[in-house]
Amino acid sequence: MKNSRIAGVGHYVPEKVVTNDDLAKLMDTSDEWIRERTGIRERRYYNPEKDTTANMGVKAARMALDDAGLQPSDIDFIVFATLSPDYFFPGPGVTVQEELGIDTIGALDVRNQCSGFIYALSVGDNFIKTGMYNNVLVIGSEIHSSGLDFSNEGRSVSVIFGDGAGAVVLSPSENNEKGILSTHLHSEGKFAKELCVVAPSSSGHERLTEEMMKPGGLIYPIMNGNYVFKHAVQRFPEVIGEALKHNGYSPQDVDVLIPHQANLRITKFVQDTMKLPEEKVISNIQKYGNTTAASIPIALSEAKQEGKIKENDLVCLAAFGSGFTWASALIRW
Ligand code: ACO
Repeated sequence: MKNSRIAGVGHYVPEKVVTNDDLAKLMDTSDEWIRERTGIRERRYYNPEKDTTANMGVKAARMALDDAGLQPSDIDFIVFATLSPDYFFPGPGVTVQEELGIDTIGALDVRNQCSGFIYALSVGDNFIKTGMYNNVLVIGSEIHSSGLDFSNEGRSVSVIFGDGAGAVVLSPSENNEKGILSTHLHSEGKFAKELCVVAPSSSGHERLTEEMMKPGGLIYPIMNGNYVFKHAVQRFPEVIGEALKHNGYSPQDVDVLIPHQANLRITKFVQDTMKLPEEKVISNIQKYGNTTAASIPIALSEAKQEGKIKENDLVCLAAFGSGFTWASALIRW
C-alpha cells in the first residue's frame, strides 16, 4: 500500500471583510468582548451575487490543482466536506465535478462539521492507499453568514463564524516514510444537541415553518459554548496524542500543528497542554473567524504560501466539533 501525500493546496475567501465593530452595529456586542473570548478581529462574508459553497470550493480546488501541477482531468474522485451545502440535496461534490468539467468521476459529501475536512482527508487517503484512485480532490467550504442569527439571541454564536474554502489534492507518495502517516477519527453522538442546527428537519412534524425562521428559531445554530470548550480542550490533545503515539513520536517532534480554527482560546489551551512553542502552531482565526470544514485547508494553504511548512516537516492536523466529532492526521511533508 502506498501512502498518499498532499500534492497541492489552495484556498479562497470572499472579499467582504466584516469587523467586530461592524457586528456591533447589528447586535449588542463589542470588539473587546469578541477579541477577548475568541481572538477574532474580522471574518469574511460571501457575496450572494457570485459565491456559493460549491463554487468557492472550486476556486480553492483550482489553486490546489495548480499547486500540484495537475489538470482537473487528472482527478479520479472528489470528497467535499461542508455543513452549508448549496442545496438541501444533492451535496456540492457533484457541482464541483460539473464546474471543473471532469468526466463522470465519483463525488462524495461529508457531513462532519468542524472535523469534516480531516474525515474527508481520511477517505481520500484510504482510497489512494487501497489503490482504487490515484488523485483525489478534498475540499472544505462553508457559507455561514447566510445562516446566522444577527439578533441579540444569536450573538454568542454569530460572532464566531465566517465564510471561506480550502482544498488539497492527494496523490500517491513515492516513499512510504512521507505523506499521510495516519488518520484517527472519533464521534460521540450523545452530544449531538450541544452544537447543532435543528431545521430544516426531516424528523420533525414540519420541515420548515415561519416560527423556525424568527430570531432565536430552529434554523439557527445552537451552541452550549462552555460545554463545547470543555470537551474541545480535552479531545484536541487526546487525538493529537493518539496520532503521535501511533507513529512513535512525542509532542516535541511536531514541527507544525494546524488545529481547526475553533477559537483562539481553545488553540492556546491546546498549545499550552502540549507545551508547543507558539511559532509551531498555526492560527489565522483572527482574520477569518471559524470557517468549520474550511478552516484547516485555508490555514494549511496560507502556511505553505508563507513558507511555514518545509520539506520533511512533521505536520499535525487536528479538529473537534459538532457531533461531537474529533479527528487528527499526521503528515510527514
Ligand atoms: N457579545 C457580548 N456579550 C455576549 C456575547 C457577544 N457576542 N455573547 C454572549 N454574551 C454575553 C452573555 O449573554 C453573558 O451575559 P450575562 O453574563 O449577562 O448572562 C456573558 O456574555 C457571558 O456569556 P458566556 O456564554 O458565559 O460567555 P463565555 O465567556 O463562556 O464565552 C464563548 C462564550 C466564547 C462561546 C465560550 O463559551 C467559548 O469560547 N466556547 C467555546 C465554543 C467555541 O468556541 N465554539 C466554536 C465553534 S464550535 C467548534 O468549532 C468546535
